[in-house]
Amino acid sequence: MDRNVRASAPGKVNIALRVGAPRSDGFHPLDTVFEALDVRDDVEARLAGELSMSISGLGEDLPIDATNLVIRGAQLLKDRYGWRSALDCAPEELGAQLTVTKRIPVAGGMAGGSADAAATLVALNELWLLGLSDEELHECATELGSDVPFALLGGVARGTGRGEELQTLATNQTHGWVMLTNSRGLSTPAVFNEFDRLDLGEATVPDTASVIDVLSGTATGIEHRTLLGTVLANDLEQPARSLRPDVATIIDTIRAHIGAGALDAHAVILSGSGPTIAVLAEPTHLDVLAARLGKLFPELTPVVAIGPARGTYLVN
Ligand code: C5P
Repeated sequence: MDRNVRASAPGKVNIALRVGAPRSDGFHPLDTVFEALDVRDDVEARLAGELSMSISGLGEDLPIDATNLVIRGAQLLKDRYGWRSALDCAPEELGAQLTVTKRIPVAGGMAGGSADAAATLVALNELWLLGLSDEELHECATELGSDVPFALLGGVARGTGRGEELQTLATNQTHGWVMLTNSRGLSTPAVFNEFDRLDLGEATVPDTASVIDVLSGTATGIEHRTLLGTVLANDLEQPARSLRPDVATIIDTIRAHIGAGALDAHAVILSGSGPTIAVLAEPTHLDVLAARLGKLFPELTPVVAIGPARGTYLVN
């Protein structure tokens, strides 16, 4: 049987990312508001004798072995739920050839690897006819990484715990972003380690109430986005700045330009653990703003995005 199944998963930005002192398991307690973006990766899955993957688009030099979240996600599904497959083969014979089409910047704080893992879970659940519920998929996602459950869910959601305890936040508003991606990546564990080295975490995690108030408030359109620009917060910005002074300089320059009215944008923030920088703007102004930012910072690549976007879905 020659079947193929394709799933699409979103990148994200953290509208707010508040971080506390590390827990006993080493993870940091978070209070965050995720927004899924319309920059998406696809995973196509085809039945095969074993598990293998390839990558096209961005990230062609990423490892495609068992360290990749795509293979880890596939292996987890096979080991735990292979017995449930309605296909006519033994669980240990389940295999797939997985092809990732990457558009989400790599090692950038936009959770591209997590999106690929989420798309893999959804594609293989269908390809292998496993019949997993949303709850079962969420549980597998949590094991694979802190951002994977949100990649499944999409939209706008508050994340607590290590980011996996999600609560959808309803909003009718859209947000424009120019994501400034950097050719040099930044490792998420390194940024959390620097957060600890600088002793920035308190026992109580600062909350995201001000962002949630704006999202659930009555202001709409440009008024809403202007307000949102005043409450963006990212506690990983300080450690990322400490590790990457080049990123700090760019953020400061953009902030100064916005403050002086010299850039048509509402605010700038580090995206997740960086080094991608997110500039909040009017959805209708993104192309002009991206061109302007690309000229100001030729070393960066601007990617235009609108949120919120759908979570992970099957394309065919
Ligand atoms: O969960 P995930 O595998 O994406 O996390 C990558 C790394 O980021 C973890 O190994 C840990 O160092 C750090 N992290 C953390 N606290 C979180 C999420 C991630 O310390 N809430």
